[in-house]
Amino acid sequence: MLRTHTCGQLRREHVDQTVTLCGWVDSRRDHGGLIFIDLRDRYGKIQVVFDPSKSASTELHDLAGTLRNEDVLRVSGTVVRRSEKDVNPKLPTGEIDVRALELKVLNKSRTPPFEPGTTDPPNEELRLRYRFIDLRRPRLQELMLFRHRVTKLVRDYFDEHGFLDIETPMLGRSTPEGARDYLVPSRVHEGCFYALPQSPQIYKQILMVAGFDRYMQIARCFRDEDLRADRQPEFTQIDVEMAFVEREDILQTIDGLVAHLMRSLRGEEIPLPLPRLSHREAMEKYGSDKPDLRFGMELVDLGDLVANCGFAVFKNALAEGGRVRGLCAPQAAAKYSRKNIDELTTYIADFKAKGLAFFRVTPTGLDSPISKFFSPDEQAAIIARFQAAAGDLIFIVADKGPVTSAALGALRARLGRELKLYDPNQMHFSWVLDFPLFSWNAEESRWDAEHHPFCNPVEDDVPYFQTDPGQIRAQSYDMVINGCEGASGSVRIHDPQVQQQVFDLLGIDPQQAEERFSFLLEALRYGAPPHAGIALGLDRWVMLFTGCDNIRDVIAFPKTQKAADLLSGAPAAVDAKQLKDLHIRIVEENR
Ligand code: AMO
Ligand code: AMP
Repeated sequence: MLRTHTCGQLRREHVDQTVTLCGWVDSRRDHGGLIFIDLRDRYGKIQVVFDPSKSASTELHDLAGTLRNEDVLRVSGTVVRRSEKDVNPKLPTGEIDVRALELKVLNKSRTPPFEPGTTDPPNEELRLRYRFIDLRRPRLQELMLFRHRVTKLVRDYFDEHGFLDIETPMLGRSTPEGARDYLVPSRVHEGCFYALPQSPQIYKQILMVAGFDRYMQIARCFRDEDLRADRQPEFTQIDVEMAFVEREDILQTIDGLVAHLMRSLRGEEIPLPLPRLSHREAMEKYGSDKPDLRFGMELVDLGDLVANCGFAVFKNALAEGGRVRGLCAPQAAAKYSRKNIDELTTYIADFKAKGLAFFRVTPTGLDSPISKFFSPDEQAAIIARFQAAAGDLIFIVADKGPVTSAALGALRARLGRELKLYDPNQMHFSWVLDFPLFSWNAEESRWDAEHHPFCNPVEDDVPYFQTDPGQIRAQSYDMVINGCEGASGSVRIHDPQVQQQVFDLLGIDPQQAEERFSFLLEALRYGAPPHAGIALGLDRWVMLFTGCDNIRDVIAFPKTQKAADLLSGAPAAVDAKQLKDLHIRIVEENR
């Protein structure tokens, strides 16, 4: 070892010891004769003093004078106590100094583009380009450490419950998870491609057929899709599958994991079972399949109250089979000006809402440009339906049912944040169950799998295959954490006939199914046990547990919004020989 201690380790009890430390120059101060260096490693920071009047030789002192930020040093010296007035209570090592006796510069650094110690980090592009410096920032070091702890706790939990960690291939066949694949050309098989896994879905099901009845893997997944604050093209799942189980077993297993993590990471006891609501209930009460349940502000239906009101927008929407729904923002009437409300209207237009009606609740009734269309009795009924109080602000959307959900769901989430209706430190976990199995793709006039084509339908709903596929519920479940989809899974189809029925409805004919998933269908024919599973988005869990608002902060080497790695410069062109080996010719498209 080049060092006896780390930079964060030394305390008063080490006084008079001779120690050797290694680390980076965090800062340097030259006080006439005295030179102070803050030496930093991932364990902390300590002040090293070069004092010509005490022990340092001239050469040592001259060398210390050449030091610059981010140089890498090895320093030996004596631990000395600081005088009372020099103690820095903010630093765990603030009661002592190391008086340098020897200094070796292990490596000089160029002037860094930014200081790891800065309280005001530069733009993200520069940080990602120089990620090796960015990762020296204490906050990012903390996040990586936290992520390590989560991973370790997760592995321990599943190990204790008898799960086997089994790796599945990176080079495989495309699985239908819904995103575009990343493809890898084969050199040996001309014109053929591997697909990087969107998830280990099919392999983990095959492991169940193979008899490994409890599987887990911390699995890397690849999806070529539009990126957002909580989405990366390359991300990590805690992937789980169990055989001879029912939905309840998966829910309880993950409930246990949540309790274990909350206890170990935050010292909180969380009551189990975690709250559960059906997809239908979630859409009805919150307008979202991933509602933030840290606050209430539920959606309310006004259809019966306004069916005959004088406001044509509401009446017509209902007459056309639509709905009139709203929410009541507590004590928000004075906080939202007309201009603010116009902004909210623009915001929900993204969710296809054609307008946003509003009422300020006053002691005498409803105040709004449209209140004249509502009789005093109608106003009183609306106030009663929302259980509104003077000072509240009611928002209403009249539109097709699903549009009212999407618009009000998004509005609810935004108002909850803006009105600070919840404690941002709280973690709230809940299950959303029984998603629809299929959703109608109006653009392409066909049914799509809501999750993936391997979810088992709820048995009672099977007759709907012939009559109304939109009614079929899946035996599926999502875990929602603070309004974010944290995990998703289902009971799988283990009967090849049901599987074929699903493929049929999705327009995947038997021949296509054989071509694409023959290995799964074949496996299902050789004694597949009933099985079920789930995958947790590890990056998102770490993001939510650490209060980060961007997934990139919890990934050591993330990609940008445009799926680029600014550090390595990937993706990049390759040389002609490589392309030739892969039988690939690049054709410049005419733009
Ligand atoms: P799903 O596609 O829902 O299910 O993914 C499971 C969980 O992974 C996380 N996640 C992501 N995190 C970051 N970036 C992304 N691009 C991204 N996409 C998904 C989410 C999500 O809930 N094979 C099935 C699981 C199963 O049925 O067992 C699957 O992959 O938190
Ligand atoms: P207008 O009649 O278009 O001037 O709209 C009168 C008010 O009704 C405005 O505040 C609109 O935002 C609102 N409004 C219009 N369409 C809808 C709708 N579909 N749902 C709720 N409010 C609406």
